[in-house]
Amino acid sequence: MANPQERISVQEMLRQRVSLRKYAERPVKDEDLKAIIEGAMRAPTAGNMMMYSMIIVADQDIKQRLSETCDHQPFIARAPLVIVFLADLQRWFDFYLDSGVADFCNEQGREFSGPDEASLMLASCDALIAAQNAAISAEALGIGSCYIGDIMENYETHKELLDLPPYVFPISMLCFGYYPEGERPKPKERFESKFIVSENKYNHLTKQDREAMFAARAKDFNPKNTWGAKNYGQWMYAKKTGADFSIEMARSVRAALENWRGDNI
Ligand SMILES: Cc1cc2nc3c(=O)[nH]c(=O)nc-3n(C[C@H](O)[C@H](O)[C@H](O)COP(=O)(O)O)c2cc1C
Repeated sequence: MANPQERISVQEMLRQRVSLRKYAERPVKDEDLKAIIEGAMRAPTAGNMMMYSMIIVADQDIKQRLSETCDHQPFIARAPLVIVFLADLQRWFDFYLDSGVADFCNEQGREFSGPDEASLMLASCDALIAAQNAAISAEALGIGSCYIGDIMENYETHKELLDLPPYVFPISMLCFGYYPEGERPKPKERFESKFIVSENKYNHLTKQDREAMFAARAKDFNPKNTWGAKNYGQWMYAKKTGADFSIEMARSVRAALENWRGDNI
């Protein structure tokens, strides 16, 4: 929302929202940051366990480093506010140890196993729902945002940079800043809902469906692209799914997963 004074419905706000990568050059007010954090923490959370943490990156040197380690995106360093959202089982497992859960399990003949892949998924749900609450709270205050998925890359570097313990994984990052005066990117089109939403059972798209679905996107395809891709599908694979950053993300997540195997403690 460009002007927070202007009252619009949540629906209209969502219609107008865009990922914002260019921000007004002023810091996010303390009261607005407080509202963003409060909004995030009111998010639903599995079992009310709050299996997530947020790191507000205030240090410009760390922001600068993240702008390089997150696939070289300079706007990250220029964002007035950057928050990393982390799936976090560390504090629960530290608390379980404090609480004598190891002895308890021993007495009861149960296994005491560390966080597993499912815990990571559940904690990631928590962290991402909190992140989206933060994004929407910000939007209502005239503060735009942009997710950075590349925080999942370079696990070892981010672990050191942000001092992360083993049962914590940076699942996403959000850059925030006020919308620049008079400049508002146009909302991007989405696929038609008939391809995305179905009733009762999964909708297996036919080749014809796929052709219809992607036809609207094909207009973005540049035949003179640097990868030598001959169509939109080849182009997207080269640019996104099979790109170097995706390969690095896969390597990095696999390295992090070593800590989430549910090993006996
Ligand atoms: C999980 C996730 C990761 C993203 N990572 C990046 C990113 O690293 N850099 C970036 O500029 N935008 C990133 N985006 C923003 C998307 O590019 C954007 O949401 C998409 O192009 C649709 O545009 P819109 O949000 O303006 O509607 C990410 C979005 C999501 C949800």
